[in-house]
This record gives sequence, structure tokens and C-alpha cells, in this order.
Amino acid sequence: MRRGDVRRADGRAGQRRGPRSGADGVVHRGAGRVGRRQRHGSARHDGSVAPHGNPGRDRVRRGLPAQCRCRVRARRGGVGGRRFGDRQHGPPVGRRGRVGHHGRRSARKGERMSTPRIGVIGLGNMGGRITRRIVESGQPVTGYDPVPGRAEEAGATAAASVAELTRAADHLLLSLPDSTVIEKVVLGEDGVLANSRDGQIVVDLSTAAPSSTVKLHEAFAARGVEFVDAGISGGAAAADKGTLTLMVGGSADALTHLEKTLEPFSATVFAMGGSGAGHTTKVLNNFLNAVSLAATAETLVAGKKAGLDMHRLLEVFNASTGVNFATLNRFPHIVDGDYLEGGLTSTLMMKDVVLYVNRLRELGVPTLNSAGPMASFALAQSLGYADQISNRVVDAIGDAAGGVRLHDEEAR
Ligand SMILES: NC(=O)c1ccc[n+]([C@@H]2O[C@H](COP(=O)([O-])OP(=O)(O)OC[C@H]3O[C@@H](n4cnc5c(N)ncnc54)[C@H](O)[C@@H]3O)[C@@H](O)[C@H]2O)c1
Repeated sequence: MRRGDVRRADGRAGQRRGPRSGADGVVHRGAGRVGRRQRHGSARHDGSVAPHGNPGRDRVRRGLPAQCRCRVRARRGGVGGRRFGDRQHGPPVGRRGRVGHHGRRSARKGERMSTPRIGVIGLGNMGGRITRRIVESGQPVTGYDPVPGRAEEAGATAAASVAELTRAADHLLLSLPDSTVIEKVVLGEDGVLANSRDGQIVVDLSTAAPSSTVKLHEAFAARGVEFVDAGISGGAAAADKGTLTLMVGGSADALTHLEKTLEPFSATVFAMGGSGAGHTTKVLNNFLNAVSLAATAETLVAGKKAGLDMHRLLEVFNASTGVNFATLNRFPHIVDGDYLEGGLTSTLMMKDVVLYVNRLRELGVPTLNSAGPMASFALAQSLGYADQISNRVVDAIGDAAGGVRLHDEEAR
């Protein structure tokens, strides 16, 4: 947040924290250096990566005068696309000094004087890229992943265990598949909680069940540890470029202390409220993502069977009311046979839809639109596309439609 501002969920007016603070509490910033070493190839628009090619160049806000960098909105093309700014200013994330509960002020105060030691648990598609960004910003990272070599590949020093890593970190980032794994890593024997200490901040960047998040927040609070939930959006492409969108739940003060740690990999940070608010926001967003991806896939398979030209059909969608993130950023590649491998798998997408359904049940809101994406990604899983990018849902629907492919496989 050093170079940006934070958008508050409550929209309260407040004093300016600095020349780049945002009116409504959103942190926006341009990306710093773009990481060049990428395990999975070059980043693409939809958060996936192509196996070869150049990483997208980060043009985000670089050309904007300083006074315009305070607030930016994504234009068509989504995260990682070009942005523009306006001149609204607003409140700070939180006042420095006073920290949440249990008198952690002195610990944090000390921490601010020295550089916080950063640890990352889970160095897969997202955690690996986030680690790389932090390391390339000049902040060393210690990493733990059960898959050997992942920490080193991301430029981190490998820790032998979760316990060792937890003891060695002031800011601990988690990027894990789901709440089952997160709870095991946190609450398990010799896990994060057992080895945590007063004054630490743990940030969960995973997409997780908000109810589990709140439970962990309470367990950490009892030990004087801040647990912050930070849903991330933008996928692998934005992680590579350091332009992820973060939706954060937890104390504003913890968020302030995290500025330098989050800065290398995020362009926009939304402070959404208390514990669980970040993960709730992420689950709502991903449901829309799942709906638009599955529905667009279905329409294109139908269009193909009807004999329509795929490029022309997408052109029409993108000039009409059917336009969405998938029509803009995914299918223009998929119709040419590039599925943008490397991003969110169908298994993880299915997990997100289930999280959405569960959250709405908790809230007492009927979910009338979850059947479509639920069935679509279940079909993808059952037809063998579970661990491939969720864009492959179009092939699953194509299989069910008699073997339809949007692209001409011979031509590739
Ligand atoms: N991939 C995306 O585009 C994307 C975008 C936004 C959010 N997310 C979310 O971020 C999280 C991570 O996603 P990903 O795509 O990087 O998944 P991934 O499967 O690539 O990475 C998860 C990592 O966690 C590690 N892991 C598994 N069990 C572990 C354990 N017990 N202890 C330590 N490490 C363990 C795995 O080895 C793996 O490296 C998920 O919750 C996902 O929903 C992903």
C-alpha cells in the first residue's frame, strides 16, 4: 500500500493518509518489476499461462502522473489490462500504532523498525508466483511446500517443516488448496497455530470457507496473532505481474502493517470488513466467474454445432450484452486451441462453487443459479479434465455434445 490506497467496505470518510490514498479505501498501485523466471510459462490475460511466449508487459499506471495514481479502475480486459485513474482521495486503512487486541502494539512497533521476515506455505501456481514477486522486490522469503524443490524454484529458502517456517516468520502467507488443508496446516500437530507467537500476522491468500476462516481467526486471536483473510483475483497472469486484486477481511491495522509484504504482488486491495469478509467476497466473485465461463462455453459449443464462425460469434458477443470476462479474455484464445493452461483447475473451480452454495445457505439466501456451473464443472471433472485449467469445461461440454471442439485441431 506504499504506493496506493485502500478502499474501505464501509465507505467512511476520513483523513488522507497520503497523496495516493483512495476515497473509498482501495489500494491501487502499479506493478514493480515483472518476474521473469516463471515455472509455468508466460502469463496470459485470464490468469493462466501459455507454455511459451512473453509475459504480458505491465503497463498498469506506469504512465500516469503521480496525482492520478490514487484510484484506478479496471477497464475492459480485466486485471492486468490498462487502467486509468481519477483524483479521489480518502481515508487511511488504519492508524499506525494501535493493534487489534491483546496488547500487541510493542511487538508490532518493534517489527516496523526492522524488516518483517516473510514466510509462505503452499508454493503452487499462485503461492510460487507470489513468492517470486516478493523475492524480486528485495525481500527474502522462506517457503514450505511438501513438493520438493518448489521453494527454491520460486526463489525462496526452503524450510524443513511448517513448524520451522512459522517460528522463522513475522508475516506468514498461506496459499493452499482449500479449508480442509488449511485447517490441517494451521490446527494440526506442530502446525502454524502451535508454533505461532504474539505479534505475528498470518495472511490466508487461499480461497477458503469463510466459516472456517472465522474459526481460525478466533483461535489465532487467543494467541495474540492477527489472522487476515485475503482472497486474490487475477490468476497466474496478475500474480506474475504483481497486479493481483486482494479482497481482505481482518483488522485495518494488520493490513497497514502488511503494506510492504503485499505490495510486490498486488495492484488493488479492498478492505471488506472483519474476519471472513475477504473470503466471502472472493467466493461471490468466483461464482460469477464460474457462471460466465460455463455459460459461455455452452453457447460456443452450440454455435459451433450450428455452423457459426467462432471468431465472428465472439465478436458479436463482445459488441453485445453477452460480453463477459470469458468472452473477452479466454475464448479468443480457446477458439484457436490455446486453453491458457496453468490457471485455476476445474477441481478448484468446483470447490469455489460449493463454497458459494454453502455461504448462501449460511446466509439464508436461495441460490437459483448454481446448478449450471455445478453441473458443468462436475462434468469436466468426471470426463477427465479435473486437474486441467477450468477453461477445459468447454471440451467437457463438447464431449457431451458429440465430440465438438471449438478449434480446428488439424490446423494447429
Ligand atoms: N490458480 C488460480 O488462478 C487462483 C486464483 C485465485 C485464487 N486461487 C486460490 O489459491 C489457492 C491456491 O491455488 P493454486 O492454483 O496455487 O493451487 P495449487 O494446487 O497450484 O497450489 C497449492 C499448493 O499447496 C501445496 N500444499 C498442499 N497441501 C499442503 C500442505 N499440507 N502443506 C503445505 N503445502 C501444501 C501444494 O503442494 C501446492 O504446491 C486455492 O485456494 C485457489 O482456489 C487460485
